[in-house]
Amino acid sequence: MAALRVKANAKINLYLAVTGKRPNGYHDLVTVMQSVSLADTLSVERVGGEGISLDTGGVLPADDSNLVCRAAKAYFAKSGMPFGVCVKLEKQIPMQAGMGGGSADAAAMLRALNELDGRRFTEAELCEIAAGIGADVPFCVVGGTRLCRGIGEVMEPIENRLRGTLVVAIGGEGVSTPVAFGELDRKYRNFQEGGESAPDHLLPILAAMRSGILTEAKPHFYNMFEEVIQPIRPVVGEIKETMCDYGASAAMMSGSGPSVWGIFADASDAERAKAALLAAGHRAYVCEMVEEI
Ligand code: C5P
Repeated sequence: MAALRVKANAKINLYLAVTGKRPNGYHDLVTVMQSVSLADTLSVERVGGEGISLDTGGVLPADDSNLVCRAAKAYFAKSGMPFGVCVKLEKQIPMQAGMGGGSADAAAMLRALNELDGRRFTEAELCEIAAGIGADVPFCVVGGTRLCRGIGEVMEPIENRLRGTLVVAIGGEGVSTPVAFGELDRKYRNFQEGGESAPDHLLPILAAMRSGILTEAKPHFYNMFEEVIQPIRPVVGEIKETMCDYGASAAMMSGSGPSVWGIFADASDAERAKAALLAAGHRAYVCEMVEEI
């Protein structure tokens, strides 16, 4: 049987406010997640026996620390009917960048297994399995534009009529998500009573996204992680500035960073910005927002 090829789309955050900390250490948040065309590819082939053989081309471990393997385990634990799979993962999404690369791979694996398994589970059931793998994995199962709450797993679709070409760029090394949350904990005193709270920009950004007017959205894009990551990673600010110099309507860090996205009304400005960022020694990609994954 030919291998099934599935895309694992990266995400960016258009809004992200952390609102509390749970006793288990996870954080409550309110975030607008957006799928983008930058994607990894998984080729998944059903083979005899049981278990997963994963080829990552050596760019990351292929053991249980890999979310693709964790996804396969979680899927078969739920179905109770394991089968053998041979998986090739081609990475495009920058790692430890705040773009949900590992979560996207896990979600793509769940969708691929479900296809090979005669669509045993509904999308809602796949999301339940996904929530046990990681906070961003349920979003990556459904994709598009969603307002996410809880630790990220409570989702509602929202309208996004903003149009433009995206540039995503990363300067320097990755940022560990738990470390970034730790920085926020310090600044916001573990989000206990009396700590600072996030500015309430949510309703204006939702309205601006519905209107599709970039200039209206610009002041309302928000990412709380910028407050703690930008000071220790000045390159984040430099990349934002370069993007704006080249005509970005807005530029902001995604997730826990350090990736920065910029949105350009003019695609040729986006290409010029990408060239300038590459020339400055950063990694840079041109992509677009996608509603269907
Ligand atoms: O769920 P995931 O494995 O992607 O999360 C990685 C880490 O990020 C968690 O171990 C936790 O430290 C932190 N996290 C959090 N609150 C969230 C999501 C992630 O504290 N809502």
